[in-house]
Amino acid sequence: MRRIDRETVQKILDTADIVDVVSDFVSLKRRGANYIGLCPFHNERTPSFSVSRSKGICKCFSCGKGGSAVGFLMELEQLSYNEALRYLAKKYGIEIKDHEVSEQERERESERESMLAINEFAMKYFEEILTGTDDGRDIGLAYFRERGINDAMIKRFHLGYSYERRDDLYNTATKAGFSEKFLFDTGLCYRTERGSVNDRFRSRVIYPVFTVSGKVVAFGGRTLRKDKEVAKYVNSPESAIYRKSHELYGLYQAKQAIVRKDKCILVEGYMDVISMHQSGVENVVASSGTSLTEGQIRLIHRFTENVTVIYDSDPAGIKASLRGIDLLLAEGLNVKVMSLPDGDDPDSFAQTHTSQEVEDYLETNEEDFITFKTRILMEGAGADPIARSKAIQSIVRSIATIPDQITQSVYIDNCSRSLSIDEKILRLQIARYSAEHAEQQAREAQRERNRAAAGLPADPAEDHTAVLAPPAKTPPAKPSDERRNSFLAPYERELVAYAVRFGMCYICDLSEGDDGTVRPLNVLDYICQELRMDDISFTDPLMEQTISYCLSASESWPAAYDAESSRLEALRKASISEGVEQIRMTADDLDSISRLERELTDRENAAYETAIDNYTVGYLRRILLSCDNDSVRRVATDMVTSRHSLSKIHTKYAKIATDRDRLQELVPLAVYNLKCALIEAEIAQINGEIKAVYASAPGDREHLRELMERNLELNNLKKQLSVYLGERILSPRRR
Ligand code: CTP
Ligand code: MN
Repeated sequence: MRRIDRETVQKILDTADIVDVVSDFVSLKRRGANYIGLCPFHNERTPSFSVSRSKGICKCFSCGKGGSAVGFLMELEQLSYNEALRYLAKKYGIEIKDHEVSEQERERESERESMLAINEFAMKYFEEILTGTDDGRDIGLAYFRERGINDAMIKRFHLGYSYERRDDLYNTATKAGFSEKFLFDTGLCYRTERGSVNDRFRSRVIYPVFTVSGKVVAFGGRTLRKDKEVAKYVNSPESAIYRKSHELYGLYQAKQAIVRKDKCILVEGYMDVISMHQSGVENVVASSGTSLTEGQIRLIHRFTENVTVIYDSDPAGIKASLRGIDLLLAEGLNVKVMSLPDGDDPDSFAQTHTSQEVEDYLETNEEDFITFKTRILMEGAGADPIARSKAIQSIVRSIATIPDQITQSVYIDNCSRSLSIDEKILRLQIARYSAEHAEQQAREAQRERNRAAAGLPADPAEDHTAVLAPPAKTPPAKPSDERRNSFLAPYERELVAYAVRFGMCYICDLSEGDDGTVRPLNVLDYICQELRMDDISFTDPLMEQTISYCLSASESWPAAYDAESSRLEALRKASISEGVEQIRMTADDLDSISRLERELTDRENAAYETAIDNYTVGYLRRILLSCDNDSVRRVATDMVTSRHSLSKIHTKYAKIATDRDRLQELVPLAVYNLKCALIEAEIAQINGEIKAVYASAPGDREHLRELMERNLELNNLKKQLSVYLGERILSPRRR
């Protein structure tokens, strides 16, 4: 999909009205200044999904999901950023001028499009054979019938059948005008050594593989023969549009159910997915027989954090999947596992039980992964001490991959009890594994960077990969750096949050030069200036990125402000003259006319001030909440929605000072806090060095003196800083 040019993006974002957009999916009722309805992201009886037109955002107070119009659509409909914009453009009748792409880009793009088109054609061709020809009906359809698959599922998964003939697809497609190049590129056909052309899929039932956005990128063909002469499955080869490790079978059909149930069930094969769907369990995807890849896991993570893996009950299958599961844990997913009654796979289980039985089974038979693994491995190890120790190591390794400290801690606790091993020993071992793991990740990141530097191709960009691409990994931090960074992070975030929430608001005047000229500073200017003064940059790359998004958004502020203020000014004038008319018509005497007119003007002026202030406050957040960068958008949404919300009682009974009213104290305070934190971090480091020198080279007086001097200097700096804060409480300008 082509990029949309900036101007059009802006137009779309300006036009989209959050209430209007959400209303297409949720029935909303007005409540005060906001709208409220039942949250579309989780099941609920009482509405907790709130939409604010003035802020341009929506949020569920129960499950926390929401965002701008774009964010909302992406989340709910599982669209990419571009798809969400296109959706809005269509809704509001905005024409999209496609961004000029380079010749090469266009070529690649059109090649990919041709491949997708030919796959689409082939899919319909296979479908048509299955249901519209004698061969298809007698063999293919009969097979699906025998396996209990109904018509609805055949339609939903676009199942098909291929003739036995050698090159029927080739002939049909070329006759229809498709160039043979793309038949080869997609792998639908191939040339034999003797130079003849063959269709890849022959007398097989066909399972098309869709991307998350519903494009056909590959096919799986299963033979119906029972003998072992032919391969059971033939699959499309990898191509410019298909990377096996980046697709999950059934995700396109399952994604909404996954979001709704906030859970993804993972099975092995095509039939498992389809039969489960048929029995009403739709949040199911298949890894297609191979072990899970990181790409696939990230794909799942986009929709939910909860994964349930269903196992074959045979021990080999269990052992094999145990490995893939560590990857799921490492990605931060909550992993449950479930085994089916002996001899069943999801397909056979779903086919031999009622929907209700399947639901019930799923609900009651999930087991936490670590518990499961512990049980399986310890049972297998029996009393053999060496086998036990191996098993324990493997379990601990799994726990070590869990990124969330608290979750990890809970598991350590559990394991210590169930394995009767001292918690301290477990923790020690985990620390060691974590270090190994971090090192390995660092090596991989380095390899990735080398690859990028060498100009090797990145993803063959299926349109969702842009959204999925992991944030660029920063070089691995040394442990001490890491500690410092996580110590500084909240202060940095606090400051950046003021930029996002109030960036364009006036904060103080800056006097320039000696001639007494002053320049008004807004919050963003102020923050940047303060940082520049002390040469501070953020340690958290996301904060750095967010600020730079703010800065680039602020470039269009003067023009936007002019436009909005003249619009509001015109509105004000119109309201006043209309009001004056009204007064002249209804008032009785000159005195009351002039009083009413004065009141009218005051009222309209106040309305103007409020409106322009709302626009100012909302400017940056509006842009950031809808920007094209996933991480920035997410962090901005978080900053705007989850902080400083006033309790209802307060807002109801008293006008209390909001953050907006207190910018002049809050922003300098945040700057001060960050600077203090930086100094403290350095003091801590110096102290550490002093200790180290004492321990290793107590005679090195020169070095010690240096360090102590620096320590003193820093402590002085800290004192000065608090004086600075005293001076810097800014006084608001009188209007
Ligand atoms: N698979 C594949 N290519 C192969 C073998 C397997 O793509 N050569 C994938 C398919 O997605 C398949 C899954 O691995 O659905 C599981 O393989 P298997 O258990 O052999 O097949 P089933 O799905 O159980 O097929 P069926 O029930 O139709 O026998
Ligand atoms: Mn099967």
